[in-house]
Amino acid sequence: MFQFIMLACLFLTSCAENRNTQDFTTLTSTMAYDVKRAENNSSQSTQKEYPNLYIVKHPLIQHKLTIMRDKNTKLPAFNQLLDEISLLMSYEITRSLQLKTVNIETPVAPAKGFEFAQDIIIVPILRAGLGMAHGLNHLIPTAKVGHIGLYRDSATKKPVEYFFKLPPVTKESMVIIVDPMLATGNSSAYAIDLLVKAGVAPKNILFMALVSAPEGVRAFHARHPEVKIFTAALDEKLNDHAYIVPGLGDAGDRLFGTE
Ligand code: URA
Repeated sequence: MFQFIMLACLFLTSCAENRNTQDFTTLTSTMAYDVKRAENNSSQSTQKEYPNLYIVKHPLIQHKLTIMRDKNTKLPAFNQLLDEISLLMSYEITRSLQLKTVNIETPVAPAKGFEFAQDIIIVPILRAGLGMAHGLNHLIPTAKVGHIGLYRDSATKKPVEYFFKLPPVTKESMVIIVDPMLATGNSSAYAIDLLVKAGVAPKNILFMALVSAPEGVRAFHARHPEVKIFTAALDEKLNDHAYIVPGLGDAGDRLFGTE
């Protein structure tokens, strides 16, 4: 029920926005979210410094993120909020999905409709990414789901791979990677290396994070400039333990109650 209400709100907001956007529906979907970004999302200065970063600043998302950041927010609220934010962000990130025309029959007449032109694959980076995959999967139930298991070596801060399983992919597949914390950028860039090795085209990869650090976004861009990052917040910095400041602590621990 909650998800239905959120989607209805988003739809109405989007209709209102589109009225102000010239010929919005005739733009290709890639252009569509560039227009959107220029109007509403990342500021001009952020775009210059972080060319592949899209900050999703919807008030519902910012409000929920603030509650998540609060150290007094525990399970199950933390999980629930991450799920809700992911669903809201999914609405934005899926603007880039390509459609193709299909012919259908309504009960009244033949009609033209749309379906996704590419197969869509959601890839959470284990384990915290699991908390963001559900919202996205809820909106795209036909998506397949792959998993990448990485942990961060506490001494080197480099990612160590322990699991990698993908559904069949082609160069056309659209892959959305989810991981709440884009900190050093090492894990995310490593995950993209794995996907590219498996045959996914970098231009068909999107990355969805909740909170990002400037250092990580820069490192990510240096290695994968073609991959767009969607995040709800760009924080101040990393601390000496490679945690995001102010961040929200260890997302995996807070999500699974292991702190
Ligand atoms: N991973 C987390 O869970 N939190 C951080 O701040 C950085 C990496």
